Amino acid sequence: VTVLTTLAAMPEPPRSRASVRGAVVWQVLRETLADLPAAGRTLTVLDVGGGSGGFAVPVAELGHTVTVVDPSPDSLAALARRAAEAGVTDRVAGRQGDVTGLFDVVAPHSCDAVLCHSVLEVVDDPAAAMQLVATAVRPGGVVSVLVASRTAAVLGRALTGRFTDARALLSDPSGRSGPQDPLVRRFTADELCDLLVAAGLRVGAVHGVRVFSDLLPGALLESDPSVVAELLALEAAAAALPVYRDLATQLHVVAHVD
Ligand SMILES: C[S@@+](CC[C@H](N)C(=O)[O-])C[C@H]1O[C@@H](n2cnc3c(N)ncnc32)[C@H](O)[C@@H]1O
Repeated sequence: VTVLTTLAAMPEPPRSRASVRGAVVWQVLRETLADLPAAGRTLTVLDVGGGSGGFAVPVAELGHTVTVVDPSPDSLAALARRAAEAGVTDRVAGRQGDVTGLFDVVAPHSCDAVLCHSVLEVVDDPAAAMQLVATAVRPGGVVSVLVASRTAAVLGRALTGRFTDARALLSDPSGRSGPQDPLVRRFTADELCDLLVAAGLRVGAVHGVRVFSDLLPGALLESDPSVVAELLALEAAAAALPVYRDLATQLHVVAHVD
């Protein structure tokens, strides 16, 4: 079991709910990229469905080159603005397209790392998408996958009195509350790991993202920056422990191409 110990050592002290959102993913991702055999040189990173660059731009700020493939022109425009503000325009390329057209943009087996964050919940065929993602990675490379957790969605609705939605999410094969649900599917940790293994990947670290944060009243986090720092330390300590991980809003897996 990996216990993240370094969230508290982030350069900027975390101050808000927003800073908690991606903290665990970002820390795992940063350590994973640093550990790649290719470390020390510029990594080639692909961000599938990378949107406006919430992860792509910080990865480029580490010195790596990142290609974002996303069907949304608005998101790609926001990506360009974000990359310019961060001074990494030369290391970030946005390409309009979707996961099925991945190899119009990159060659098979050419990437050191592929990010696929919050995308498997909306694509037509997650198994096919993951197969394409896996094929984009060179041997020794990694895939970083982030998905919405079915368990957290059930818990969240139950705790806010939406019991019918919670029960629907519990029993729906795709982890959906109904046709009005914006997501097409959600995953348990086992379902996600099975998907990755079926795509020929070796599952590495599995973390829960926001085990506690989304259950707290916002006012608590706005009150005092030290509260956020303490919460992040708690999130880091719990993220890899299966019993807590499985309650987290999102599940993050690092998978390897051997
Ligand atoms: C919730 S956003 C996540 C953005 C980014 N990955 C992140 O974590 O901040 C989902 C993104 O997936 C993109 N998307 C939707 N369908 C897609 C597909 N079939 N292939 C690739 N990207 C897709 C959307 O345009 C959107 O930018």
